[in-house]
Formats: sequence, structure tokens, C-alpha cells
Amino acid sequence: MTIVSRANPAQPEPGARLCALEEVADPGSKGFRFREGDKLFAGFVIRMGETVTGFVDSCPHAGWPLTMGDNYLTRTGNRILCAGHGALFDLEGRCVTGPCVGDRLKAWPLTVENGQIVTA
Ligand code: FES
Repeated sequence: MTIVSRANPAQPEPGARLCALEEVADPGSKGFRFREGDKLFAGFVIRMGETVTGFVDSCPHAGWPLTMGDNYLTRTGNRILCAGHGALFDLEGRCVTGPCVGDRLKAWPLTVENGQIVTA
């Protein structure tokens, strides 16, 4: 028997469908929240064409969610913005401007299967 220890029981198991790829603007982003008892998991996805990248929605500066809603990208679409104190992250999740320069957003592994965004 294999027992898998998950840091946050609210984080969806691998293979969980999040939404259709078409439900995320291109380029664009979308936030997700999952609850298990008193635990909450927050994550978001960034879409660039057929490529989707997932991150845990927790800023390395203060641990706050980067935003409320689905707008994680700057107007130019080439940076991720934290509304807390204005940190900017590149699309690989590295902070390039702001109070946590050099820190990274935690990856949330995802894949696209048959047009659906799925946890990996
Ligand atoms: S919480 Fe994100 S920059 Fe401060």
C-alpha cells in the first residue's frame, strides 16, 4: 500500500480536470480555489496559445494571493502581477521587480489533455 502525503489536503489530486482550455483567454489567466475542511488551496493558470503554466497562488513576499478573480497578467500580458505590493514575475514565475526579486512562485503542475486543463 502506498500512502501519499500531501502538504495541503485541499490541493486537487493529479488528474483533476480544472476547465476547458477555451475557458481561459489567450493570452490570459484564471484562478482556482479548492477547499477541504478548513484548508484552502489557491492556484492559477497562465495561457499562452496552447501552452498552460500553473502556479500556487501565494506570493513569495508575504504569502498573499496575487489577486482576486482571474486577472493575473499585466496589461502587456508578459508579466504576472501581485496586487499586494506590486511584484512582477516573468511567465516562468521568477520575481523580476518588487520586494521578492529573485524568488519564485511555486509551480502547480498541469497538463492539457483533449482540450482540458488537468492537474499533473
Ligand atoms: S504580497 Fe506580493 S508583493 Fe507583497
